[in-house]
Amino acid sequence: MEKTSMHHRPLGGTGLFVTPLCVGAAPLGDMPETFLYGATEENALATLRAAFESPINFLDTAAAYGQGESERRIGKAIKEFGGLPAGYVLATKADRDFQTGDFSGEQIKRSIEGSLQRLGLDRLQYVYIHDPEHTTFENVMGPGGPLEVLRSFQAQGVIDHIGMSGGPIDMLIRYVETGAFSAVETHNRYTLLNRCADPLLDVASRMGVAVINAAPYGSGMLAKGPDAYSRYAYSDAPPVVVERARAIAQVCQDFHVPLAAAALQFSMRDPRITSTVVGMSKPDRVAQTLELASYPIPDELWAALAPIEYGMDDPEASK
Ligand SMILES: NC(=O)c1ccc[n+]([C@@H]2O[C@H](COP(=O)([O-])OP(=O)(O)OC[C@H]3O[C@@H](n4cnc5c(N)ncnc54)[C@H](OP(=O)(O)O)[C@@H]3O)[C@@H](O)[C@H]2O)c1
Repeated sequence: MEKTSMHHRPLGGTGLFVTPLCVGAAPLGDMPETFLYGATEENALATLRAAFESPINFLDTAAAYGQGESERRIGKAIKEFGGLPAGYVLATKADRDFQTGDFSGEQIKRSIEGSLQRLGLDRLQYVYIHDPEHTTFENVMGPGGPLEVLRSFQAQGVIDHIGMSGGPIDMLIRYVETGAFSAVETHNRYTLLNRCADPLLDVASRMGVAVINAAPYGSGMLAKGPDAYSRYAYSDAPPVVVERARAIAQVCQDFHVPLAAAALQFSMRDPRITSTVVGMSKPDRVAQTLELASYPIPDELWAALAPIEYGMDDPEASK
């Protein structure tokens, strides 16, 4: 596969260039409690090999995925390749302590040190602060807090760039408006089924902050189909969401377009989005995703989908 067949775009003002597709490594971390199925190390490594050899140059993980297992497996693949393939961009996330909820600067320091060790790297290209809905804005931005700690790693040359990744949209807008982050990652909130991230996309693109749109399949339903996998955003989907997904799937079928192609291209065709993060745990998914990304979709399909209502409420708000 040709490395250059996916057009690279600037990742905000970082000087990095990324493909419009990014491989999401949450399922690779073996997280049965989140996805209801696991991923063997063998499959994860084969998926990473396929990703490293593909035209995609962007990989997304987090310290917390599989309690470090996602990063550990990525570290093994990097070692096997003798380093991160040239031109590849690896983004990870600094996490709270999941046992205690500690989201202090000290914890973020430990998170970064753990990521460096598991990935076998001495430098991290891109680090997001992960899920700050579990702490306060004042803690993240205040003296000695997570942002300050990441900036001091940046000053030491350990981290190149800092972004923000999380759930609630109003919260993400508040962080984007500080101007402190070069990219913002949203998830499950800009899909065929839910568009509550729309105002974030406007604010971020106006400010030159890259939008990274994760979970275009709503964690799987829009790829596997609402009857095969009736979960949205890591929980059983409410009946109204399943019904809407069925209606969307029917329209796609009428146009002979795979549901997953429409779900993926819905995100990729939005000019405000720099890259779309697709989670996967099997090596064939890499080629499948590239095919879905270029599957021909007539404009009439988008017009036929338009009357189907979509959600604007936070899909995780009721948890
Ligand atoms: N707070 C945050 O920062 C945050 C939150 C959520 C997600 N993310 C990032 O975004 C990534 C994507 O989110 P996600 O993985 O939760 O959801 P997703 O991308 O919407 O969906 C992933 C699911 O879709 C399935 N899938 C992918 N391609 C498929 C295909 N061609 N055919 C059938 N099934 C397919 C995968 O199945 P298989 O496992 O069978 O391949 C996986 O179960 C994550 O991995 C993570 O890197 C970040």
